[in-house]
Amino acid sequence: MAFSSIHVLYLASLFISFPFPSQGDLIDEVCNETEELKASCLEILRNDPRSSSENLVVLSQIAIDAAIKNATGLSPYVQSLANKVTDPQVKARILGCVVNSDDALLHITQAKQLVATKQYGPANDKAHLANLALSTCDNSFLLPPANEPIELKQATNWLKALIVIFTVITNRFG
Ligand SMILES: *[C@@H]1O[C@H](CO)[C@@H](O)[C@H](O)[C@H]1NC(C)=O
Ligand SMILES: *[C@@H]1O[C@H](CO)[C@@H](O)[C@H](O)[C@H]1NC(C)=O
Repeated sequence: MAFSSIHVLYLASLFISFPFPSQGDLIDEVCNETEELKASCLEILRNDPRSSSENLVVLSQIAIDAAIKNATGLSPYVQSLANKVTDPQVKARILGCVVNSDDALLHITQAKQLVATKQYGPANDKAHLANLALSTCDNSFLLPPANEPIELKQATNWLKALIVIFTVITNRFG
């Protein structure tokens, strides 16, 4: 009798754990998909205490919160870069990036609301729109005479990376 109840428990545990990768594996698997962003992805997801109860729902929340936090600071940061520039053409482009940064934050904020109601497809669409807004900023420097200031490029790249991590996670909801 004792043997069979242990047996039943063992079988039950197989059923419970089998369909889900174990803790470290899910983050590894997700971050593998972010390719060159893997190290940042691992750091962001693993450093959040919530990732100990690891599942995709929690990971999507960690990723969108990281993106919101970064996006919130972006527009004031870009404005500060614009203030330092005297060339009117470059200044105008950077001010355009302030608008793009505000747009990106708006889309990311909407994505967070959609995540809260488990609407991962629409949340993903909003994340793409946020990424597009940041690319609009970067692309405004494609024509001479001005190169994109390196601090601006780094700032948009970082937020884009956070958005990629979020979309890799939400893509898994199918
Ligand atoms: C992630 O990729 C590495 C090699 O790049 C591989 O060794 C590892 O098994 C992969 N992990 C998962 C969970 O797919
Ligand atoms: C976004 O995160 C990066 C990396 O932590 C950081 O360097 C950057 O200052 C952040 N940007 C803003 C605007 O908070």
